[in-house]
Amino acid sequence: MNSLSIEQQARAAKAYILQELRKTKDGVEILKDENFFGRLDMNFITIFAIFAELYGYRHDCLDQLVDLITMCGRSWKERDPELKALDKQREQDSEWYLSNQMLGGVCYVDRYAKNLAGIKDRIPYFKELGLTYLHLMPLFKAPQPLNDGGYAVSSYRDVQEELGDIHQLKDLATELRKAGISLVLDLVFNHTSNEHQWAKKAAQGDPEHSAMYWMFPDRNVPAAFERSTREIFPDDHPGSFIQLADGRFVWSTFYHFQWDLNYSNPTVFRSMAAEMLYLANIGVDFFRMDAVAFMWKQMNTDCENLPEVHKLLRAFNALCRIAAPSVLFKSEAIVHPDYVVQYIDRYECQLSYNPLQMALTWEALATRDASMLSQAIERRHNIPRGCAWVNYVRSHDDIGWTFSDEDALELGKVGSNHRKFLNAFFVNRHPGSFARGVPFQDNPRTGDCRISGTTASLAGLESMQDHSIDRVLLAYSIAMSTGGIPLIYLGDEVGQLNDYSYLNDPAKMDDSRWVNRPWYPAARYAEREDTSTVAGQIYAGIKHLIKLRKSTEELAGGRAVGFYTGNPTILGYQRPGVHSTVLCLCNFSDNGQWIGRDRFMGMPAEAKDLVSGFMINLRDAGIQLRPHQFLWLKY
Ligand code: GLC
Repeated sequence: MNSLSIEQQARAAKAYILQELRKTKDGVEILKDENFFGRLDMNFITIFAIFAELYGYRHDCLDQLVDLITMCGRSWKERDPELKALDKQREQDSEWYLSNQMLGGVCYVDRYAKNLAGIKDRIPYFKELGLTYLHLMPLFKAPQPLNDGGYAVSSYRDVQEELGDIHQLKDLATELRKAGISLVLDLVFNHTSNEHQWAKKAAQGDPEHSAMYWMFPDRNVPAAFERSTREIFPDDHPGSFIQLADGRFVWSTFYHFQWDLNYSNPTVFRSMAAEMLYLANIGVDFFRMDAVAFMWKQMNTDCENLPEVHKLLRAFNALCRIAAPSVLFKSEAIVHPDYVVQYIDRYECQLSYNPLQMALTWEALATRDASMLSQAIERRHNIPRGCAWVNYVRSHDDIGWTFSDEDALELGKVGSNHRKFLNAFFVNRHPGSFARGVPFQDNPRTGDCRISGTTASLAGLESMQDHSIDRVLLAYSIAMSTGGIPLIYLGDEVGQLNDYSYLNDPAKMDDSRWVNRPWYPAARYAEREDTSTVAGQIYAGIKHLIKLRKSTEELAGGRAVGFYTGNPTILGYQRPGVHSTVLCLCNFSDNGQWIGRDRFMGMPAEAKDLVSGFMINLRDAGIQLRPHQFLWLKY
């Protein structure tokens, strides 16, 4: 047993690494840079401790670490002076992303603007909308035509030819930066496509590359793993493995052409770290850490959210602190809320999608009852300081009902039944439904199902029902105000509907999520200034919310405090600021609703509703809200 403390071991390892670095010209240069050296000093112990724990049993552990730190140093050396200046600026304003000026947008490059040049041409529109954060959906080389919307990456350094090239991407990052917009790209690091050169070599039987994936000669081990794993894309293949032409089996959580990387091999960690820092130097500001929950496998577990995943993320994060310090991580963990929160930490992922709030906003719209959403804001919203939710109404993916069954039960709802109801409601199989969603990965065997659809179609615009515009605005008002960065799926702001054309495309027809990944709705955008149109009304409403958000300092930061309205159809939460508070009230009912005046005891007699600009008397008779009305009361 090693009797040295982890600090002593780290010191010894660092001395060894420095000695190795001094042997090469490159290494000497790297060590001369005081900035790099200082940050290495601060973060080395994190990386060392994680490496020792995950890979310490291997004889080459220290050499792998030498290679990793050398790569990190080289990457820092190659980082553009402009990016280094940004690193410095953000170091001084370390909570810049918590500002109420922050506003996110997300789109597919080809669908929204044809190619990277097209995205560049749309910068004036992004500025018109007020974006400060742009997530471009996966744009790297991928198999054709099947590539899971780009999430099957064949090279992290080559852009898909039809979209442009890596120089254009770098140029776009620079142009966006000039416009005050951060670039967000996915780091798809749970898997590569089967056409990535690592995968191709593995398929050819090369042992080193085979060891980068979870490959087995027969079904024995896969079958043992599958006893406790969940089926993620059962429409594609049952279980977690697929069989290769040579008879071997490879782990494939998602589609059969996406092979899970084996992070128990330090070469995989090192190789992906190199890809990450390469992209950081292109000018990526935020990495969306794709499918984080699945990155580590352990027999007899469900192989999701294992403690080692957090260690990997911390080590990746520490590498960024050393070689690309302004880069931040956003976790994509669409799992049970107990697990979602575990990824949110300054030393892990500073940002996280807020899938619970997203799903429960739809739940409340369907049930006209805000109790579950209210409970979630009260109980599950607050995250560590310096961290922020990314609040969205819908994404490019399906909506999964990831609420906790225990939370639901406290409110008298049985999780499985309630999910069944929600699925039926959102695919219009429930009387009185306004939604036009499509089932995704409907698994009759397990009863699991999720929902695809655009915001407008799910809110009732496609079925031309009353209140649909109000529902869209109500949902976005929540994303804009609960704390964190609001994220608009571009097209939603002009009320874009479902696109069923995917059903005619053999490469897409089996994946209903394409219904909510429509093409740029040029006609709707053209109408956006005309408030006699649906597009114009939604656009005006969203723009109004954006303007209010940006001028309301209380909405900065990541925290919301619950407010009990005494009326289950009305959601309440507060955003306390330094000198004043904003109380948000949202009516989910199709009818007018009251909150009694007793709820406002202890508050001033009057408050200004920022949404309408009117003063509201809180003493007289309580407050009445119109159907789907929301108020932002500042007092
Ligand atoms: C993430 C993406 C999803 C993709 C999956 C596999 O969940 O959002 O679109 O299918 O990862 O990469």
